[in-house]
Amino acid sequence: MTIVEQIDLVGEGVDRVDGPLKVTGAAHYPNDFSFPDLAHAALVRSTVAAGRISRLDTSAAQASPGVLAVITHQNAPSLGRAPDNILSAPPPPLQGDRILHYGQYVAVVVAGTAEEATAAARRVEAEYEATEPVLDFHDPRAEVLTDPFELDSSRGDAGTALASAEVTFEATYTTVDNTNNPLGLFTTVAAWDGEALTVHDATQWPVLLRTALARVFDIPESGVRVLVPFVGGGFGAGLRVWPHVMLAALAARTVGRPVKLVLTRPEMFTGVGHRTATEQRLKIGAGRDGRLVAIDHESTSTLQMEGDNFEPCASGTAYAYACPNVSTRDRQVRLNVTWCNSMRAPGEAQGNFALESAMDELSYELGIDPLDLRLRNYAESHPQLGLPWSSKALRECYEVGAERFGWSRRLPEPRSMRDGDWLIGYGLAGVSFFWFQKPCEATATLRRDGTALVRSAVTDIGTGTYTVMAQLSAELLGLDLPRVTFELGDTDLPPGAVAGGSGLTASLGSAIHAACRNLVQEFLDIVRDDPTSPLAGCAVDEVSIGRGRIHRTGSPERGEAYTDILVAHGLTELSAYGASTPADSRELGLAPAGPFGAKFVEVRVDPDLGLLRVARVVSVIDAGRILNEKTATSQIIGGTVGGIGMAMFEETVTDPGSGRIANATFGDYLIPVNADIPDMQVSFVGRPDRFNPVGVKGVGEIGLVGMGAAIANAVHHATGRRIRSLPITIDKLF
Ligand code: MOS
Repeated sequence: MTIVEQIDLVGEGVDRVDGPLKVTGAAHYPNDFSFPDLAHAALVRSTVAAGRISRLDTSAAQASPGVLAVITHQNAPSLGRAPDNILSAPPPPLQGDRILHYGQYVAVVVAGTAEEATAAARRVEAEYEATEPVLDFHDPRAEVLTDPFELDSSRGDAGTALASAEVTFEATYTTVDNTNNPLGLFTTVAAWDGEALTVHDATQWPVLLRTALARVFDIPESGVRVLVPFVGGGFGAGLRVWPHVMLAALAARTVGRPVKLVLTRPEMFTGVGHRTATEQRLKIGAGRDGRLVAIDHESTSTLQMEGDNFEPCASGTAYAYACPNVSTRDRQVRLNVTWCNSMRAPGEAQGNFALESAMDELSYELGIDPLDLRLRNYAESHPQLGLPWSSKALRECYEVGAERFGWSRRLPEPRSMRDGDWLIGYGLAGVSFFWFQKPCEATATLRRDGTALVRSAVTDIGTGTYTVMAQLSAELLGLDLPRVTFELGDTDLPPGAVAGGSGLTASLGSAIHAACRNLVQEFLDIVRDDPTSPLAGCAVDEVSIGRGRIHRTGSPERGEAYTDILVAHGLTELSAYGASTPADSRELGLAPAGPFGAKFVEVRVDPDLGLLRVARVVSVIDAGRILNEKTATSQIIGGTVGGIGMAMFEETVTDPGSGRIANATFGDYLIPVNADIPDMQVSFVGRPDRFNPVGVKGVGEIGLVGMGAAIANAVHHATGRRIRSLPITIDKLF
C-alpha cells in the first residue's frame, strides 16, 4: 500500500468531477428540492434585542390568503434540545416569550406559496416589553467568562520576563463583527412521512444535524435522513443546527405537508452566526538582538446570551514562536447579540492579526527586518508540548515567499517607497494554524465492471471534497479516476466528519485510506486459499496496486485484476468499511502540526485621497500533502479574498441603542469585489505530514489567516501609520 513519504507533495490539479453538474444546473442545492404539495414558510423576527414578547396577535396573518399555520411560542409544542458538543445548537425556538437578541424568531408562518407566507408574516403583530440590551464589551452588567475553552496557557513567567526585558512593546488591537455570507441562501426543505423526517439543508455536518433533529423532535435517529449533495458555500455558517432548520421541520409536521424555508439575505445576518469582535492586548518583551523573552496575549471576544462559541483567539500565540515565557488568555463577554459562530479560522483570524501586527511593530522598535525577526524566533519544535512537529516548513514558506515576492527590494523606512502619487508598502505575516481531525467512517466498493464507489456522509461545501476524495480513492485502489465515484451528503451513508476546522480532508481521507486498505485485504482474503491465484497467501503489506490490479510488490506480473477475482469467485462486488480516529500525539511522539503559511502583501496608498489598494499577494503554504493543486489553490485564493474582506471591508454594524443590525444587506455590508482583488500567487511547500496516513493537513482556513496583519503591516510601511483596528477603512487612513 501507499507509503506517504514516497508520494508527490502536490497532486495533479484535475478539474472538479462535479463541475459539469454545477455548470449545467444538474447539481441540486437545498433550494432546488421540491415536492408536489410543497408549502412555504416565512419567519417573523424580533425587533428588539432584549426583553420579552408582551403581545402577539396572529389573527390577521391567520386570515391572510393561503395561510396554513402560524406558529408562535403560544401554540408551539415543546421541543427537545440538541446534544451539547463543541458546535452545540442554539436552544429550540418558540419555547417562551424571552428575547435575547435582535432577529430572534417569534413566529413562523406557513402558506401555499412563498409570497403568501411572506405577506402573512408581515401581518403578525408583535409588541415587546423591551429592556436595555447589553451590547458593549465594557458594559458592567455583562457576564464575563474566563478561559472558556480551557485553552489558556502559561509557560515560564511572562510577567517577570516582561519587567526585565531590554525592549518591551504593548498595544491593543481590535476587530469587529463580521458576517458569513455564503452565496447560497440557507434553505431547509423538510418532509415528514409519519414519524420519519427527511431534511434537505445547507449543513456542513449532516450527521450532527440528524442527531440534533432526532433530539428536538424526540424521534429515533434512524427516523431522520439528512440530504445535502451540494451547498452554496459554508465557511462556518453551516456548522451548527440553526433554529430555522428546526422551524422548517416543525412547520412541516404542523401542516402535514413538506415545507421549504429559505432565509432572506437580511435573515442570514441574524440567523447563521457571525465572527465575533475582539479586543486584544499584546505585550512582548525582547532582547536587543530580537530574541523574544516574553509574550502576554489576552483576548476578549463577544458571546451571545446562551450557549457557547469555540473561538480561541489568544491560544495560538502559545505555539507561534520559540519564546520561553508566554501567557495566553481568552475571555468572552455575554451580550444581547445574535449567535456567535465560526467564520473561517475562528479565533485565529483575529488572534493572528494582533500577534503578527505586534511582531511587526516590534521589528521597527528593534530596527530588525520583520522577516528576520520571525526567523530569529522560529519554533523548531512545538514550544508548548515540547515535541517535534509532525511537519513544519514555515521557514521554507518565508524563504520561498520572500523570493517570489521580492522582499529584498523593500526599503526599511516607512514612506520610503513610491510610485507617482502612490505610496507603496510591503508587509508580511506568518501563520501557524491548527486543524481538527475528527472520527470519520467510509465504505469502499469495487464492482464487477471495474468501477469503484466510495461513500461517506459528509458535505462538500464547495471546496472540492467530491474531487479530491475520488482522486485519493483512485490512487489507493489503483484505478483510473473516471472509474471512481465518491458519494456524500446523505446520512444513510457511513457517518462522516464535519466539513469544518480545516479537518475534513484529514478526517475523511484517513477513513477512506482505511476502507481502501481493508478492501484490498478483502480481495486477498478471497484468494488466500486459491492455489491458482498468484496472490494466494499474500498479506496486504506485500502487495501493490495499479491499473485495476493487485500484484506482489516488485513482481508486477504476479497479480490479478479485481474484476477477474470477482468473476472467478462468482461475486458481483466486494465492499469494505474503514474508520479513522485522530492519532494520539503522545503515542506518536509528535506535536500535531496544523498548516503553516507566509503571506506577503504589497499595498498602494494614495495619501491625498485615502485610497488603499492591495496590489499583490504572495501566499506560501505548508499544508502537508496537497491532493489536488487546483482545488487547493482555489481554497487559498478564496481564503485570501475573505482575508482581504476582513482586513479592509467587512463590518457588521450593530446599532448601539437597539441591537439591530444596521447593514444586513449586500448593499450595505461591504465584501470585496473583483476590482478589489489583486494578483495572487499561491505556492505549496513542505512534506507530507506524519499525523495521518494520507499526509494532509488542511487548506480550508489558512488562506484567510494572516491577511489582516500583512495588510496592516504593509499599510504602516507605506504610510508610517499603524492601524490597530480592522477593517482598515478610509477614515483610518486620514
Ligand atoms: Mo469552518 S469556520 O470550520 O467552516
